[in-house]
Amino acid sequence: MSQGSNRSLRGFIVCLAIALQLFIGATAEADDGYRLWLRYDPLPTRMITVYRQRVTSAVVPGNSHTLEAIRTELVSGCTGLLGRPVPISSDAHRDGAVIVGTPRSSPLISGLRWETQLAQLGPEGFRIRSLKVGTHPVTVIASDGEIGALYGAFHFLRLMQTLQPINNLDVTQKPRIQLRMLDHWDNLDGSIERGYAGRSLWNWSALPGTIDPRLRDYARANASIAINGSLLNNVNADAQILTADYLRKVAAIASVFRPYGVRVFLSARFSAPIELGGLKTADPLDAEVAMWWKKKADEIFEFIHDFGGFVVKANSEGQPGPRTYNRTHVDGANMLAAAMAPHNGLVIWRAFVYDMKPGYDRAGAAYENLQPFDGKFAANVLLQVKNGPIDFQPREPFHPLFGAMPKTQLMPEFQITQEYLGFSNHLVFLASMWREVLDSDTYAKGPGSTITKVTDGSLYSQRLTGIAGVANTGSDRNWTGHHFLQANWYAFGRLAWNPDLNSRQIAEEWIKMTFTRDPRATGTIARIMLESHQALVDYMTPLGLHHLMWGGHHYGPAPWWDTFERDDWNPVYYHRADERGLGFDRTETGSNTLSQYHRPVRDRFENPATCPEEFLLWFHHVPWAHRMKSGRIMWDELALHYQRGVDWIRSTRKEWTALAGVVDPERYDQVAKKLAIQERDAIWWRDAVLLYFQTFSKRPLPAGVEKPAKTLEEYKAKSLVW
Ligand code: GCU
Repeated sequence: MSQGSNRSLRGFIVCLAIALQLFIGATAEADDGYRLWLRYDPLPTRMITVYRQRVTSAVVPGNSHTLEAIRTELVSGCTGLLGRPVPISSDAHRDGAVIVGTPRSSPLISGLRWETQLAQLGPEGFRIRSLKVGTHPVTVIASDGEIGALYGAFHFLRLMQTLQPINNLDVTQKPRIQLRMLDHWDNLDGSIERGYAGRSLWNWSALPGTIDPRLRDYARANASIAINGSLLNNVNADAQILTADYLRKVAAIASVFRPYGVRVFLSARFSAPIELGGLKTADPLDAEVAMWWKKKADEIFEFIHDFGGFVVKANSEGQPGPRTYNRTHVDGANMLAAAMAPHNGLVIWRAFVYDMKPGYDRAGAAYENLQPFDGKFAANVLLQVKNGPIDFQPREPFHPLFGAMPKTQLMPEFQITQEYLGFSNHLVFLASMWREVLDSDTYAKGPGSTITKVTDGSLYSQRLTGIAGVANTGSDRNWTGHHFLQANWYAFGRLAWNPDLNSRQIAEEWIKMTFTRDPRATGTIARIMLESHQALVDYMTPLGLHHLMWGGHHYGPAPWWDTFERDDWNPVYYHRADERGLGFDRTETGSNTLSQYHRPVRDRFENPATCPEEFLLWFHHVPWAHRMKSGRIMWDELALHYQRGVDWIRSTRKEWTALAGVVDPERYDQVAKKLAIQERDAIWWRDAVLLYFQTFSKRPLPAGVEKPAKTLEEYKAKSLVW
């Protein structure tokens, strides 16, 4: 056979291979959502033509699991997006070479003398530049660390996925927050507390012998958005996770995550020395207890040398803790921190503490319990504070602990999983909500003391910084139960990397990478996403209402609920409806927990005339006939918010129908079905809540609000089904 025909045969085989790959991609992986935002289907032809000149080969020298991961990702990403093979090469002196690595792994990068700058960006930061090697235009993706190089590679792929120019790149990025964690509330039996997307991703019974390939895809997805920590087990912890048997399994998971820069963390049950060690006490000041934890820490690090640390829920909702022994939160946290310190491990102590006292206000409890300990926590302790003072409600004012503990390392905890926001049935884009929280100004050091600045450490020169999101992932094929809720996992990672990113940019990136690049469709979908949070608040808990959900599971409305032994688990405790009005008085005439906020914030919230209406009923008990900014009375305004929420989901369903041809049929249908459930639920919420509050307001529904579909008794009889 002549050389020419040899070449054409090879060409034919390559084409066949691509065609096959595209075919397999289009069928086996057919848009069931498994690929998340890492879909590498061919880009529009006009962009392919431009990009192909810039991307001809990947030059990633060196041996390590992370460098191998970079090679695999770049080859599959570029080959898929550009519709022709982009091979690995050792030759950096070629047009379109994409050169990736660190000064240690890549001779070419070493020759660029970027060491100082790369060192400033740190091992997770990266630099991407278009430059010339000799006469050859190439792209260099460099970092001081291999994980930074991996993040840079994902960034480069994202630029193409979102159709950005890549011919004249000069990008430098580094994370603003050091610890960017997903918290999994997974139980050892495979169930997930507040999980709505199937079972746990960790198959404990098969580990460590069998490792589900999905674990790698999970780690990859996290690396693509720079999430670098994963808490594997429920904060309501089972001590068994700390036994050698389980640690072996945890180590197996850690070894899959490691090349992708994801470190594992475990929830530690405070009473483990009793349960596992046979000690009589778990008193943190007891020498034997401290020794038990020290040895346990040593053992954990033997199994997992880069173990991240412990997350602890102590003296909260029945969990054991130092207070059980008349010790303080600081005693507990610092004892564990001492065990972790020799190994550079962390202790993430949760501030979700609200033991009930008669007549108390739950919203003030965490502050009362923890603020007095400012400055007392050890250097390797972070205090993890939920975004709002109650519990992941559809909308809460920011937690007063932010800005109130200048000498303590605080990290916010968001909930990605939608415990109070319609589980995985309701389309809601949470970046908008997190943006509101991050932008909130605590005024701790005058104007501009935003939660972003508390979180990224710039307000108080905090040494360690972190942010956590309670994961919404599970064994469902599409990971999150609803295709659109993948966007919340994505958004959390993007904001953790750069807490200044705006919601629109995040939404648009995600849509282009995940759903469609058709400009008409991206516009519509972005609008739906960006409006969705306000709409959900409108049909669930407008004007500052909170915790109206059905007891226990928290799906659907039950504002009448008053049967739990603990008052602060009953919706009636929160809304305080009576014949005069509605809302929780947290001003001086009420619980006065408003005083936990700094002055200008407090003054603004304190006065009903200046309190933002979205928080009015959070801070005030407001008469039904109170005049709102619109000129309407509060009752009418409330009712119209509920109606507006219902109207939004109806119009969204219509807009979705119009996208039928643009989005692939499988995901189109699944989303359409979820939107139908969301409409049913929004109507249920509006009717049940308004009928119930009407028994106090004794006023008719205003014009424009539809008549309820059922009676109050019917709504009370059984909960909404998910
Ligand atoms: C909420 C949630 C619990 C969870 C708790 C926590 O109360 O309902 O399931 O354990 O938050 O954050 O610890």
